[in-house]
Amino acid sequence: MQSKGAKKSLRAKIPNNTDLRKYEKESPGALNLNYFIEVKNKEGVWKKSKIIECRLDRAIFGERMLEDVKEDPDVKLQEDSYEYYIHYDHMNRRLDEWVKRDRIKPTSDFIDEKKIRAENKRLGIVHSSDEEYEGLDKNARKDHEEATKVKTITRIKFGEYTAEAWYYSPYPDGYHNIDCIYYCEYCLSYYVCKEELRNHMEKCTLVHPPGNQIYKDDERGLAMFEVDGYKNPTYCENLCYLAKLFLDHKFLLYTIVPFLFYILTIKDENGYHIVGYFSKNKDFDQGYNLSCILTLPFHQRKGYGKFLINMSYELSKIEKRFGTPEKPLSDLGRQSYLSFWTQKIIEYIQGMIGTPFTIEDIIQHTAIREEDIVDALERVSLIKKVKNEVYFCTDKKILKEIYSKMGRPAIPVNTEDLNWYPFFYKYNTNTVK
Ligand code: ACO
Ligand code: ZN
Repeated sequence: MQSKGAKKSLRAKIPNNTDLRKYEKESPGALNLNYFIEVKNKEGVWKKSKIIECRLDRAIFGERMLEDVKEDPDVKLQEDSYEYYIHYDHMNRRLDEWVKRDRIKPTSDFIDEKKIRAENKRLGIVHSSDEEYEGLDKNARKDHEEATKVKTITRIKFGEYTAEAWYYSPYPDGYHNIDCIYYCEYCLSYYVCKEELRNHMEKCTLVHPPGNQIYKDDERGLAMFEVDGYKNPTYCENLCYLAKLFLDHKFLLYTIVPFLFYILTIKDENGYHIVGYFSKNKDFDQGYNLSCILTLPFHQRKGYGKFLINMSYELSKIEKRFGTPEKPLSDLGRQSYLSFWTQKIIEYIQGMIGTPFTIEDIIQHTAIREEDIVDALERVSLIKKVKNEVYFCTDKKILKEIYSKMGRPAIPVNTEDLNWYPFFYKYNTNTVK
């Protein structure tokens, strides 16, 4: 979710860690961050990278503060006294990580940002990370990157799963610079230590998200709940903190009241376990049918993302308002949407071969907006515009080939098992105060 007012709050939430100070002045002996480095990644391959930040190596100095170590006459700070927070060049920020000096090879390649930008412009190179900032001006992007440059939580423990965090999330003070954050998978309360979570679990009575069940698929053990940001602010806020660990470009929203959260769960004998969610603004002024979408990392690539997208369009059909996902999309969001749109449209075209149809027919059938249809079809060259006429490719073989390149089809939404009323029907209003 995005909020104009959130930028300020994010800034204020930068953790007050004295180790993370202005790099050059404050880190004597550390590697120079003005030059590219080579970093050995997790697969053992050397990759061109940049240093973002450094901190004292905890294995050597424990919890000692840099200020204190600098004053110590027995310590000579040098390159391997530090760990380095690095960014792999041209890769998504979720891969940024802390590495020790022994995984780094310095180079004499000076980072001349101006020259690099000019060169990229000349070559027409747009990186996926640039597309993700679509709609944000230069200053907003810079502020966002500065405020969120170092992730402060390494991993989460969630039910039986553990996942590495991808990005910075502005948790309240006291929840930063920690190795692991422990979640109750039902009410989404979070703790810095296992024991606290254990105490909580003895008392927590929730076995499903605190909202109305709007959908169930007994065969697949799936259920979806609608949670209102106004009625359950704590649950929704906890969910946003969690989601932000895996979402880079969206600002965390402090006003969750205007949103409904659609939580997808898998049911077992203990309860309903969250798999992912999407949020949706109660207000349709901006034309969005989905604000934020997330599949928890340990459930990704199993088709749940496309199911959530599918559901967002089924809701659009019921409310008869065809929307688009809120921009900018992340790289994974974009891949999932393109894959979903392309397959949905191909399914329609395959059913229409021999019968004339228009783009308006596709919109009415799929609830996908015209600009998204054109975007998806242009990328796979299934559409041609000649003057003002639009032509679709209806070659069965080509359609089949492209369809299969887009991965598995979305898990279907059985509309007869969907029990949902649009917010504005229930409250007879189109605006949210
Ligand atoms: N690499 C390549 N292709 C991918 C990847 C990947 N890592 N992830 C998804 N895809 C493509 C594939 O075509 C995939 O189909 P396939 O697995 O059959 O090949 C398709 O997208 C969708 O896969 P799903 O399994 O349905 O999606 P998943 O459950 O993994 O969820 C999602 C996708 C929600 C984008 C997930 O990656 C995620 O939560 N990412 C982090 C948060 C995020 O970026 N959210 C989107 C932000 S934009 C917005 O909110 C409007
Ligand atoms: Zn709980």
